[in-house]
Amino acid sequence: MSELIDISGLGKSYDGKRFVLKELSFRLGAGQTAVIYGESGCGKSTLLNIIGLLDSATEGEYLFCGRRVNRRRVNSYSGIRANDIGFVFQAYCLIEALSVRDNVLMPYLYNGQRLTKEVYSELDSLSERLGIASLLDKKAALLSGGEKQRAAIARAMIKKPALLIADEPTGNLDEGNSRLVTEAFRSVAEEGTALIVVTHNRGLKFGDCASYRLSEGRLHRCE
Ligand SMILES: Nc1ncnc2c1ncn2[C@@H]1O[C@H](COP(=O)(O)OP(=O)(O)O)[C@@H](O)[C@H]1O
Ligand SMILES: [Mg+2]
Repeated sequence: MSELIDISGLGKSYDGKRFVLKELSFRLGAGQTAVIYGESGCGKSTLLNIIGLLDSATEGEYLFCGRRVNRRRVNSYSGIRANDIGFVFQAYCLIEALSVRDNVLMPYLYNGQRLTKEVYSELDSLSERLGIASLLDKKAALLSGGEKQRAAIARAMIKKPALLIADEPTGNLDEGNSRLVTEAFRSVAEEGTALIVVTHNRGLKFGDCASYRLSEGRLHRCE
């Protein structure tokens, strides 16, 4: 099977001395889910930023969809970032003054792309599946944390990316909302999007997926 992500010998140092990630290997097939646990400060966000082409590795090899990522040219991958990778962060990062609808459509709106019938029908089906259909006209500022995160997931998914990356997506949520958000991720994963979720909460359950622990710069498979 061809891998969506194929990383080997990855190293990352911010200061050229201490390596946050070292000799790290990771593979993920199209449509698969991986959950990565790890203590605060162990390098989870660092790894996600590299996988999501927001930052570059110091060493190693990274193939995304079979294409070699040139770590000196990470800035040139904005097209892949915009179309093939969705991001969800702990802090939601919605535009509070805008409606939920405009927030979800933002990946199209911010660079002036046309809103076709297909986009609107994707908006309908996503907001239905994520349980935010009745919230589309509300201002984002008026939503609860769990609703905000589901709106953020819809925004990350509106372009049907091959990969959805989530960095501590339930970090600000209580247990009930964490469960709703976890279910939202599962429904997204069922549609064939690959998913990588990073969390320090071992209680989060994502069903059938590979789980890893990040420690001492490497990923260890958990059973
Ligand atoms: N931009 C940066 N510059 C320098 N050091 C950083 C930077 N980002 C993270 N670090 C350091 O790298 C280590 C891993 O951080 P991070 O990836 O944010 O961990 P986690 O997401 O697991 O909490 C920490 O020691 C942190 O201080
Ligand atoms: Mg982090």
